[in-house]
Amino acid sequence: MEAYGSEIDRVLITAEEIETRLAELGEAITRDHAGQTLLLIGVLKGAFVVMADLSRHINLPLEFDFMAVSSYGAATKTSGVVRILKDLDHDIEGRDVLIVEDIVDSGLTLNYLLKNLQARRPASLEVAALLRKEGIQEVDIDIRYVGFDIPPEFVVGYGLDYGERFRNLPFVATLKPSAYA
Ligand code: IMP
Ligand code: MG
Repeated sequence: MEAYGSEIDRVLITAEEIETRLAELGEAITRDHAGQTLLLIGVLKGAFVVMADLSRHINLPLEFDFMAVSSYGAATKTSGVVRILKDLDHDIEGRDVLIVEDIVDSGLTLNYLLKNLQARRPASLEVAALLRKEGIQEVDIDIRYVGFDIPPEFVVGYGLDYGERFRNLPFVATLKPSAYA
């Protein structure tokens, strides 16, 4: 993408591949939740792109809510400290809930969120994540819907940022070392 000049190194997942995979996940979610009204909870900010695109492949009555949690800040390493910056607008007791995440790296953020949301007594609580990094989850989490497993590299695009930039890239890519300078 022109806008980011020569900062992008390698495209890991193309826009077409993402679109195809989200359609598959949407079909599976639709099938698995027939008869339910699902509540999608997006984890801001990274999940806003996948939330918008995935939801349009889910053929069920849907409601939407969002949470914002602190993660990396401007750096590229997870701290393990999770803070709720914005909580849900509505109660989830008795609801069928699907958390939508951009990426699961160490899994610490998701682990915290699952515990926090489970305590609010939803009828069901599942996770859909566009990306999962291979081999470095520090906690064992059951992610029902995974878009792609990727190597443990730092990636941007499709909602994922580095220092708040690159979220609007339509694909998932790595950055050149010069982009971190
Ligand atoms: P975790 O707690 O280590 O699983 O990381 C959770 C959050 O860190 C994600 O929701 C992202 O916001 C951010 N993150 C993790 N890996 C990456 C990456 O490769 N690029 C951009 N953000 C990332
Ligand atoms: Mg995130």
